[in-house]
Amino acid sequence: MFSILVSCLLAFSVPQTVFAEIGGDLNCTQYNGTMFVYTPSAVACSNSISDASCEVLYPTEDELGYPAAGNSAGRPIACFTTAAETPAPVDPDMKKAALSNCAKTCGFCCITDDYNCPNAQFPRLNCATITNAQCLDPNWRTIIATDCPSACGFCNQGGCVDAVVDCANDRSICQSVGMQEFVNQNCQRTCGRCGSSTGSPGVPGGGSCSTYQADSSSSCTAWAGNGFCTNTFYTEAQRKSFCATTCRIC
Ligand SMILES: *[C@@H]1O[C@H](CO)[C@@H](O)[C@H](O)[C@H]1NC(C)=O
Ligand SMILES: *[C@@H]1O[C@H](CO)[C@@H](O)[C@H](O)[C@H]1NC(C)=O
Repeated sequence: MFSILVSCLLAFSVPQTVFAEIGGDLNCTQYNGTMFVYTPSAVACSNSISDASCEVLYPTEDELGYPAAGNSAGRPIACFTTAAETPAPVDPDMKKAALSNCAKTCGFCCITDDYNCPNAQFPRLNCATITNAQCLDPNWRTIIATDCPSACGFCNQGGCVDAVVDCANDRSICQSVGMQEFVNQNCQRTCGRCGSSTGSPGVPGGGSCSTYQADSSSSCTAWAGNGFCTNTFYTEAQRKSFCATTCRIC
């Protein structure tokens, strides 16, 4: 009886699995011209429990498997609802549980704290195309941290990241005489070598006036943390027009 029920359910669910489509909400997806697909930052984080446990808690019936950058696999249904089949309403509690345990398996990385912040207003590169390989690449990491922090989970780093990963494995290198050139170049965050890392991050010292034109953007604090006020890629006029108060531009 039960197995008949199951095979009926499977039979009915076939059309849905063939036309794989992201159900629930569209967080961490983008329209690629044909359909909604996951962004790279949808799956850029790690699950906080093992991947194997997440796959048991959040099984997928989609023929495409689990969410991956650029695919349109249906989000495992338990990631966002208590219902048994889609379309189903989003249950905030289910989503919250998925976010804290299995954000990667559910394709929700982009809305976890480390991935959920504004990027620079005028980033030097297209934040939406950044891949996981770039997030780990010493040549890219420091640029991404100031311009596209949300792409690599750098939101709470104030624009200051180590260029290479794993500096913190051995913090004694920060003091080692023969390692100074290396750590200045590669372990800026771990060894405290980012410019003006004391005080308010990324805000230059005051100018000659004592009042400033009001900020026109409400995101200035976050942008300042990501280097907006000091990044010479922006003109002084641009900084002033958005964040005169936060950046203290007369
Ligand atoms: C993201 O999820 C929230 C809550 O489920 C929803 O209100 C919002 O519309 C979603 N955003 C997108 C782009 O789907
Ligand atoms: C959109 O993504 C789907 C699934 O990965 C792919 O088959 C399709 O070719 C993509 N469309 C464009 C215009 O890139």
